[in-house]
Amino acid sequence: MTQIKGKTILTGVKPTGNGMHVGNYFWAVKPIINISKGNTTFLMLADLHSLTSVHDKETLEQNKKNVLMEYFALLPDDSDIIVFEQSKLARHMDIMWILTSVTPYSLMLRAHSFKDSQAKNSDINMAVFNYPILMAADIINFDADLVPVGKDQKQHIEFARDIAENFNQTYNREFFKLPSDLISEDLWIIPGTDGRKMSKSYDNFIPIFAPEKELKKKIMSIVTDDTPLEEPKNPDTCNVFAFIKLFASEEKQNEIRGKYLAGNYGYGHAKLELLEIILEYFREERAKYFAYQNDYWLIEKKLKEGTKIAQNMIIKKYENIIDLVGLS
Ligand code: TRP
Repeated sequence: MTQIKGKTILTGVKPTGNGMHVGNYFWAVKPIINISKGNTTFLMLADLHSLTSVHDKETLEQNKKNVLMEYFALLPDDSDIIVFEQSKLARHMDIMWILTSVTPYSLMLRAHSFKDSQAKNSDINMAVFNYPILMAADIINFDADLVPVGKDQKQHIEFARDIAENFNQTYNREFFKLPSDLISEDLWIIPGTDGRKMSKSYDNFIPIFAPEKELKKKIMSIVTDDTPLEEPKNPDTCNVFAFIKLFASEEKQNEIRGKYLAGNYGYGHAKLELLEIILEYFREERAKYFAYQNDYWLIEKKLKEGTKIAQNMIIKKYENIIDLVGLS
């Protein structure tokens, strides 16, 4: 991943109610930080996408604020990732409308996101149906080459390609770049506290920015077997040790491995060590997060700067597209 240079990378995060967890960090945030070096990287706060499900002013505002504090706490201070706010981009939605007019209905009917939602609800709103077109606009309006996302978003990136291709064909110009997804297939499985894959929907996640007490409670709830305290234990089949491997130095891992194998070391001991390791791993980030709660204006300032850069790009794209389609 780190050999990629000179590309435009873009990804989006939808402000949902849940805090960032360990899985999100390793799957999404860390890869973006790594890839941002030598590339132009955008991180979009996809607040318009939240309107598909959040219809309460306070909730949406709180979600946005929280997700921004989390991201800014995790990004290194010298990061040049451009963070911006989707809903503030004038003309973005105008381009989306133009894209809507070259998007086949039959394509949209194939969207997993829409089909899943329809299966669960008696009626869905049109934003759920149009969601992939807005996401396509997010990506192709910036001529992104690569879009780092989780596996569940793969089809959305295919749609973005299809929509870009449709437009280019309709107007007989290579107007939009065709984006590709960047999905790390080999990303290690991160277990949840119950041993299944970590996921918000299983409620088995370890939150990064929860107060220490809550974090401890989550860690203490990690499922282990019932090997008695005095007996040796197998670190390689233990959920607690799986986390220790994610966060601890090689040396620390070996030290704890030794304790597992020696016996007289309980899972409770391992969990307390894990808590300390995680707190240490995110020490700076957690401090930054809690500091931002009082200094939120710092985030607003950075967000404004990022949004200005993104806005300039959108305006250029808009001027060119209206010229091409006959609306200038
Ligand atoms: N749909 C994405 C998600 O739910 C969020 C998103 C919106 C996005 N626009 C994007 C991701 C553009 C990548 C690129 O996670």
